[in-house]
Amino acid sequence: MSKTIQPQPGIMNIALYVSGESKIAGQDEVLKLSSNENPYGPSEMAKAAFAEAAVDLHRYPATDHAPLRRAIGEAHLLDPDRIICGVGSDEVLQFITQCYAGHGDEVITTQHGFSMYPILAHAAGAIPVEVREAERRVDVDAILEAVTDRTRIVFIANPANPTGTMVSEAELRRLIEGLPPQVLFVHDGAYTEFADGFDGGASLVDDYPNVIMTRTFSKIHGLGGLRIGWGYARREIIEVLNRVRQPFNLSQAQMAAAEAAIRDVAYTAWCARENARWRDWLRNALVQMGVGCDESFANFVLARFDTPAEAEACDAALKAGGILVRRVGGYQLPDCLRITIGDEAACRRIVDVIARFKGVR
Ligand SMILES: Cc1ncc(COP(=O)(O)O)c(C=O)c1O
Repeated sequence: MSKTIQPQPGIMNIALYVSGESKIAGQDEVLKLSSNENPYGPSEMAKAAFAEAAVDLHRYPATDHAPLRRAIGEAHLLDPDRIICGVGSDEVLQFITQCYAGHGDEVITTQHGFSMYPILAHAAGAIPVEVREAERRVDVDAILEAVTDRTRIVFIANPANPTGTMVSEAELRRLIEGLPPQVLFVHDGAYTEFADGFDGGASLVDDYPNVIMTRTFSKIHGLGGLRIGWGYARREIIEVLNRVRQPFNLSQAQMAAAEAAIRDVAYTAWCARENARWRDWLRNALVQMGVGCDESFANFVLARFDTPAEAEACDAALKAGGILVRRVGGYQLPDCLRITIGDEAACRRIVDVIARFKGVR
C-alpha cells in the first residue's frame, strides 16, 4: 500500500475545465462573446428580488427550495416534487454522475460534447467513453453501438454546446428505446429556451423511467453569475439525487432571484426573440463571407474557417478589435470559433471585424 496520501482513482485524469476568456491584455473595454451569457442581463424583477434578499444574511436558507420549485413547475407545467435544484446545472450533473456511476463504470459522451461530462465521469471514478459525431451532430446509432454492460449514463446536450446543433425528438426516442434499462439518459437542456417550441425533454422524462432533463438559469435568464440550475425526472431519481445534495446548497438570494426570473415570462420571451433574430442575421452574414456555419438552435453560432490557422488568425484579429470569442480546439474543432449572440451592436461589430479579416469589406 502507498505510504503517501493519494487522490481517488480517476481524479488525476481530470483535465481542468477551461472557461471563456474575459480579459484582453492592454484593453479596458472588452466585448465578451465567449461564455454564452445573456447580453441583456437578468430581468429587472430578478435584480430587485436579489437586492431585497440582501437582508437577513445571518439566516440559513430553506433546504427544500419549495417556492422556487413551485415557480419552475408553474412556468413549465411540471410536478414540483419531481424537480431538484442545484448550484448551476453543473451541480445537478454532478449529483447524477455521483449517484449513478462508480469505479469502472462507463459514461458515454460525444465527440464535441460539453467538457464537464468527462470531468464528472472521472471524478466519480468512471470511464468516459467518447462517441464520434456525424458532421457536428450527435449520432444516435454511434451511441447505441458504444453501449456495453458497463454503461451507466449517456450525456447529451440538446441543443449542443459548442456546435449549436440539435437531435430531433424522434431520434431521441429511438436512442432511449435502444438503451438497456440500467442506463440513465441525461438530456442537458441548458439552451432549451433558444430552440423555439422545444420542451427541453420534459415529455421524454414523462414517457421513460430512465431519463433526466437538466436546465439552467445561467443562459436565457441571464443569471450565470448567481449559479442556479435544476433537473426534472421521475420521483425515484429525484429522491436518490437529494441524498447527496447539501441541504443549504442554494442561498435565499439565489432562490429569490431565480423565482422572479422564471416568473418574468415576457422578458424571457423577448430575450429568445432577440436572440433568434440576431442569430439568424449573424449566421447569414458569416455564410455570405464564406465562413461555414451550421444552423444553431442556441445563443451562439459555431463559425467554421478553412483551417485551424485561419481560425487562430481571426481570433487574433477579433482580440485586436477588443472582442473575445471562444476557441474550441479542446472540443476537437480547431478550425472553429464559437461566438455568443450579443445585442445588435455586438453582432454588427463582430461582422465588421470578420469581414475586414476576410478581405470582403
Ligand atoms: C451544455 C451545457 N450544460 C451545462 C452547462 C452548465 O451551466 P450552469 O452550471 O451555469 O447551469 C453549460 C454551461 O455552459 C452548458 O453549456
